[in-house]
Amino acid sequence: MAAQGPRPDRYRSARGLLEAPLEAEYGAFRLAGRLATVYSYNEQIPGPVLEARAGDTVRVPFTNNLPEPTNIHFHGLHVEPTGRADNIFLEIPPGESLTYEFTLPAGHPAGTYWFHPHIHGRTARQLSRGMAGLFIVRGELDDIPEIAAATEYLLMLKDFEIYRDGSVGPGSILTVNGVVNPRMVLQQNGLLRLRILNSSIDLYFLLQLEEHPLYLIATDGGGIPQPLAMESILIAPGQRIEVVAQGDRPGGVYRLLNLPYASQGGGMEGHSTQETAQLLATLAYEGRLERPVVLPSRLVSVDPLPPPTQPLRRFEFRSRDLPAGPVFEINGRTFDHERVDTRVALNTIEEWEIINLDTMDHPIHLHTNLFQVVVDGEPERAWRDIINVRGGERRRFRVRFADFPGKTVYHCHRVAHGDLGMQGVVEMHLLLPPRGRFPR
Ligand code: C2O
Ligand code: CU
Ligand code: CU
Repeated sequence: MAAQGPRPDRYRSARGLLEAPLEAEYGAFRLAGRLATVYSYNEQIPGPVLEARAGDTVRVPFTNNLPEPTNIHFHGLHVEPTGRADNIFLEIPPGESLTYEFTLPAGHPAGTYWFHPHIHGRTARQLSRGMAGLFIVRGELDDIPEIAAATEYLLMLKDFEIYRDGSVGPGSILTVNGVVNPRMVLQQNGLLRLRILNSSIDLYFLLQLEEHPLYLIATDGGGIPQPLAMESILIAPGQRIEVVAQGDRPGGVYRLLNLPYASQGGGMEGHSTQETAQLLATLAYEGRLERPVVLPSRLVSVDPLPPPTQPLRRFEFRSRDLPAGPVFEINGRTFDHERVDTRVALNTIEEWEIINLDTMDHPIHLHTNLFQVVVDGEPERAWRDIINVRGGERRRFRVRFADFPGKTVYHCHRVAHGDLGMQGVVEMHLLLPPRGRFPR
């Protein structure tokens, strides 16, 4: 169920095929209760919801009706980064069309993925004007009876500013699915399941639901082995989580809040360092189930990745103020799509260390292969594609480069930082397959 507000179209796969025509549009739209001029997919904010299962083929006939080039990135999906699949080097000029097509591998993790434009230098603008949609891969977690019985809401979080002339950008209006403070309902004794995407280009959300602990059940790349009770949960730009709340409070109305979080580093200014909690949505109890639905203590199994087979790689992230304006660098260089920064071999496991030399947070994202964050030397049993690294911190993740050769990118998902250079190219090379195994 989409929270109250505009209902995006849903495209579901049937007999192994998801066919989802998308058009990039530029025009008037009712956003946060006001008339605005937005960029969108199919004149909807959020964009259409795409739903598939592992093994399905995905076909997206796409037309660009914007006055500038664009493309589509399928964020988090483990599919080819080349050809007409998840190829962010494609540029579709105004007025032109292209059909994206790829197949989700049989073992693709079920989870909450999304799609958005990925044109270097234009990503921040196109995304902040409204272009984003969810891509849900259903599977194991969804098939657990208690989870299936939960009331599911899809929440696309995004900040906007709407200017006098109707143009939009990031700003102080917090929206959920393009509206301010939508209402969600839950039966007493029921389970509430929230699938949440932070589609803001710079804003962090620190979520809390009044009087309800939130149980984390999934990260970017799907379910985790056991629910994790949390008072509040941080969602960096680009990240997704799924949380569950038990409907075990007295009836009434509870607020979903965004708590203050200093993503600019302690004491520095920045719009995400607001001092009070902000309202995102409202949960109202309505009706009552006779018998409580209880969140199971076991969810899905996630095997930790084995130790790395290659030496550690280090990446230093730093911004600098130059006379010509700020630049955002990785290992002292800004992005060049012609240059390969990192060469890796398929079927190897690596650890990457992300070193943040700034005071602000950088949420670092890798395309094509999901990873596991390494905590105290051990990989977490959770799949992610974004790791948030606080100012002055260093953190590691472990990744297996599997299945798909070719070039793709890693970058900061405060996407203006990426547009200003904080992005690198990784090339995944095909090696001779180990004996007895052949690449697919
Ligand atoms: Cu969501 Cu390279 O991006
Ligand atoms: Cu991505
Ligand atoms: Cu950054």
